[in-house]
Amino acid sequence: MSVQLVMPAAGLGVRLGASRPKALVELQGRPLLEHTLDRFASLDLLSRAIIVAAPEHIEEISSLILATYPQSDCRVIEGGSVRQESVLLGLNALEDDTSIVIIHDAARPFAPPAIIEASIEAAREYGAATVATPCVDTILVGDEEQWLIDTPDRSCLWYCQTPQTFQRDLIVAAHEAARKDGHKGTDDATLVLRMGGRVRIVEGSPFNLKVTTPSDLLWASLAIEKELV
Ligand code: CTP
Ligand code: MG
Repeated sequence: MSVQLVMPAAGLGVRLGASRPKALVELQGRPLLEHTLDRFASLDLLSRAIIVAAPEHIEEISSLILATYPQSDCRVIEGGSVRQESVLLGLNALEDDTSIVIIHDAARPFAPPAIIEASIEAAREYGAATVATPCVDTILVGDEEQWLIDTPDRSCLWYCQTPQTFQRDLIVAAHEAARKDGHKGTDDATLVLRMGGRVRIVEGSPFNLKVTTPSDLLWASLAIEKELV
């Protein structure tokens, strides 16, 4: 079964507040995107990859990939205004023979290859899988006026990560249904769930962090320096 990576990288990184788009921000001397792609290159998953980028950065990202991974013939395509749109555009660009799709955020530079492999295995067996880590914090639900209204039982809470990995037909149908219904989600696995599909949780790693804010970039830099990732 052919596996194909779709990597949403079209965000601008507003919360990071850098002068560059997040995928191109420097992390220990290399663009963030390169760190992320390294993990997939080590599994030989770059050759058919689809990188979804903002139109104004397609050229720069394409030349970066060509310079760093000259053997890969991965494609850089134009994304949309929100992540869900970018992913759907990536799904529309899949090769005909692809049966398993890995969706992984460019903003998550340290996905451990063993966990990527475990997500592929889970998608093969169950149809849909998300990587996640068990919640270690007590999570509070507040109302609009900042009053506590609920404290969900932590033992069944997980922090969502990517990769999320799927059988192709399932994720394409889930995205098409969400688009048709005008449903806006913040991840892809939940789109499968809302169609009545089952999603397997694959335990991830706390080092598989997403760079969202300046402090995340600091932690990411420290993790490389201390050789933790
Ligand atoms: N993404 C995308 N297309 C968009 C928005 C986001 O492909 N229109 C991608 C980002 O590039 C990132 C991933 O989705 O790899 C997760 O999004 P997030 O961490 O929110 O990144 P940004 O949207 O860039 O950041 P912000 O929300 O702070 O602007
Ligand atoms: Mg965003």
